[in-house]
Amino acid sequence: MIKSTGLKKLRTAIFISGTGTNLKNLIKFSLSKKSPIKICLIVSNNPNAEGLKFSTKYKIKHKIFKYRSNNTDEKKALHHLNKNKINLICLAGYMKILSENFIKCFNGPILNIHPSLLPKYKGLNTHERVINNKEKYTGCTVHFVDSKLDSGKVVLQKKIKLFKNDTPSKLAKRVLKQEHILYPKAIMKLFANS
Ligand code: GRF
Repeated sequence: MIKSTGLKKLRTAIFISGTGTNLKNLIKFSLSKKSPIKICLIVSNNPNAEGLKFSTKYKIKHKIFKYRSNNTDEKKALHHLNKNKINLICLAGYMKILSENFIKCFNGPILNIHPSLLPKYKGLNTHERVINNKEKYTGCTVHFVDSKLDSGKVVLQKKIKLFKNDTPSKLAKRVLKQEHILYPKAIMKLFANS
């Protein structure tokens, strides 16, 4: 596993599709001295993603790849990542599944955060399904990305208790708060010099 070397932080791209609260949180984390990452690029498949505002706010380059034709856009994305010497990708609310070819060709680890205790509740609408199934606990997971949905090796998880009056949106808020703690923790675990 690559580690940052004190002075040299890992050049990181964050992939988003929507609100970007994890993006904002990772940017703030990256600005701290102890952080092993430097966020050099924001990638979105959605030109209207709210999170793109953080590109302007924090003066970080962004690039839109709409993935209308997977092959061409993936090639363009890989080229761009290469050009920017990116060696870590963090998916943060990115709603596209990366192809096996993309994962193989990208020169470094790819991480994702998912709002459940994987391997349980892969995919969408996790909170609704968790509540409907009357689970006692849910959580969030940072994991490596492979070509199957939400299925790569787990890096870190946080368990969260459900309340009797939980609704999907109440639960989503509570889980998101924990995601913001978990993602930087997972990055520290993997890449910080001990
Ligand atoms: C998060 O719950 C993340 O786990 C999931 O999508 C949501 C993205 O939220 N993959 P945000 O865009 O970071 O606010």
